[in-house]
Amino acid sequence: MRALPRLLGVAALLAPIAVISLAHAADPAAGKQVFQQQCAICHADKPGVNKIGPSLFGVVGRHTGSEPGYSYSVANKNANIVWTASVLDAYLDHPQKIVPGTKMPYGGLHNATKRANLIAFLETLKAPGAVATTPAPAKPHVLGQTAAPGATNG
Ligand code: HEC
Repeated sequence: MRALPRLLGVAALLAPIAVISLAHAADPAAGKQVFQQQCAICHADKPGVNKIGPSLFGVVGRHTGSEPGYSYSVANKNANIVWTASVLDAYLDHPQKIVPGTKMPYGGLHNATKRANLIAFLETLKAPGAVATTPAPAKPHVLGQTAAPGATNG
């Protein structure tokens, strides 16, 4: 019984991390494999690439139905929810429950660990810093500004 308080102490320390990543030790690398097996046939992890489903680049924190250039179902377009990690967790378990009438032909990923890993991977799909999520149009020079390293102007 002496181990219990210690365990609780450890749990308390880890709780904030668990909340952020949804489950203990969610593993984005494992999640990438889940993505490739279960989602990549219909979704790209690259910005601006819409396949059968919309690009999932930047999906965490995105509003439903807001990927430019993708033709959503009315259900998904009007669902009016933000794809937070916890909403994604429920959605990926049972897509039709969270967005009734979605045209996503996917029954759900019922393994909670795989979902947590997958969502941890989805969270990595964002541009670092202020880099635009869609390819920026070639810009004429801005006065006094040298090209940023890595900037591509086409
Ligand atoms: C067989 C194709 C298919 C598979 C597999 C699939 N999806 Fe989808 N997904 C779609 C389609 C089509 C939509 C658009 C739904 C609509 O407009 O009703 C969609 C929509 C979504 C959305 C809403 C996006 C938005 O911008 O509102 C998310 C999130 C999503 N899918 C995540 C996933 C994840 C994660 C997986 C893998 C576990 C997955 N999907 C597997 C076809 C698929």
